[in-house]
Amino acid sequence: MDFHGKTALVTGAAGGIGASLVQRLRAAGARVAVADRSVDGIEAEAHLPGDLLDPAYADALPSNAAEALSGLDIVVNNAGVITRGAVTATSDEDWALSLGVNVEAPFRICRAAIPIMAEAGGGSIVNTASCWGLRPGPDHALYCMTKAAIASLTQCMGQDHAHQGIRINAVCPNEVNTPMLRSGFAKRGFDPDTAVAELGKSVPLGRIAEPADIADVILFLASDAARYMCGALVEVNGGKPVQ
Ligand SMILES: NC(=O)c1ccc[n+]([C@@H]2O[C@H](COP(=O)([O-])OP(=O)(O)OC[C@H]3O[C@@H](n4cnc5c(N)ncnc54)[C@H](O)[C@@H]3O)[C@@H](O)[C@H]2O)c1
Repeated sequence: MDFHGKTALVTGAAGGIGASLVQRLRAAGARVAVADRSVDGIEAEAHLPGDLLDPAYADALPSNAAEALSGLDIVVNNAGVITRGAVTATSDEDWALSLGVNVEAPFRICRAAIPIMAEAGGGSIVNTASCWGLRPGPDHALYCMTKAAIASLTQCMGQDHAHQGIRINAVCPNEVNTPMLRSGFAKRGFDPDTAVAELGKSVPLGRIAEPADIADVILFLASDAARYMCGALVEVNGGKPVQ
């Protein structure tokens, strides 16, 4: 896939999937603006650190990226947080954090990016949902609900903005070997390497996803190869359904 001449904004750029995505977009020729709480040490054409829970920061990210890169062809809403537990085990803070990062920030970023892309004749947005947003998973009620919300928003926006030449799709991974997953194991007292290997046995392909397995699908959705896809929710799960 060739991204020469393309400009891209990636949120969650310091995380597992984000770092792989930024590296692959740039290797394919894109000029990339990276957003995360800290973007120190990330190689990119523009650095836009900040907290996605700050509405003013999220609202301004697309225009700041467009200004820094002289255009905005691609936005990847990749940042996310996971809250564990049934509803009865979650706090008001868990609710605000989950909704704020996983739903409100991508909503704000899409709302601001769409007019910029429309004026330039089109663009592509890829949101990061989850298999767990398509079907319920155990003990992660808030996380599943937020991923279902961003999946639905993606389908609606994909319909509403196709006529402006803007394609909006979502990638829906199952388990991925990133700090999000590994820190969850560590918090519960498991050795992350052993737990990842064990979890891999539950996947028909024999292993859980590596960040690059997801980044490559995001690249495809962002590219012209996916030119007829709008509002699609693409599962990337190694054959493993939500159990
Ligand atoms: N790892 C998995 O198993 C898995 C499965 C399905 C979907 N996902 C989704 O993939 C995406 C990337 O996750 P990952 O696994 O790479 O996780 P990660 O924790 O490695 O990366 C997430 C990034 O988002 C950033 N972020 C979180 N809150 C933020 C805030 N308030 N402001 C700015 N940045 C913030 C973090 O700093 C981090 O760098 C997420 O949306 C996640 O929900 C992950």
